[in-house]
Amino acid sequence: MTYLVDGEQYISLLVEWGGGQGQYHKKVDQLYPGTVYTFKLGGTATLPSREAAPQRSLITGSTTAAPEDIGRGMNVYLRNCVTCHGEPGSGGGVIPDLLRSAPEVYEALDFIVLGGALAGLGMPGHSRQLSSSDVADLRDYLLFVAASLRSGITPQRLNQDLGAMQRQALDRQK
Ligand code: HEC
Repeated sequence: MTYLVDGEQYISLLVEWGGGQGQYHKKVDQLYPGTVYTFKLGGTATLPSREAAPQRSLITGSTTAAPEDIGRGMNVYLRNCVTCHGEPGSGGGVIPDLLRSAPEVYEALDFIVLGGALAGLGMPGHSRQLSSSDVADLRDYLLFVAASLRSGITPQRLNQDLGAMQRQALDRQK
């Protein structure tokens, strides 16, 4: 936006890797917090430097869940979570990458996802759409993707594996 204060012209930009769409287009690994930059017409100040937030590592742990449970978890994620959280593993932006969350977050998953514990911070509770068993499948899906990425699997191979699991879950539903 642009605006005038006491005869001085300013331009302000909001810069961040936003929700799912922003993360899809993310071109660098660094995570910066969302920032408002303001420029003044004829201004001469230099930009203050700042530290890049460190990259967080992938969660540890794996799952022994059946492929169709992982596939079901993936469907839950795609229907309810991907628009804000983006592709799991992408690194996150203003909205966290769930494959890089702290262990305590996984311990509190029901509380956050169903109970709406972080609703005041923009993370809606999903108790009307989802059950504890959906959250368990979701957890298995996230653990499976994290373990696959840690093993160095190619994205193509991961997508093939997940596609097969998703089809098994959908077949089971019929
Ligand atoms: C409308 C956007 C939106 C949707 C949809 C959404 N989330 Fe979130 N979620 C957020 C935001 C924003 C935060 C960050 C809250 C904060 O600042 O602590 C968050 C945080 C979280 C966290 C805490 C992560 C951490 O490391 O602190 C978990 C877990 C989570 N979401 C799971 C989910 C799951 C699972 C779904 C799908 C069932 C989902 N979210 C759907 C916006 C969303």
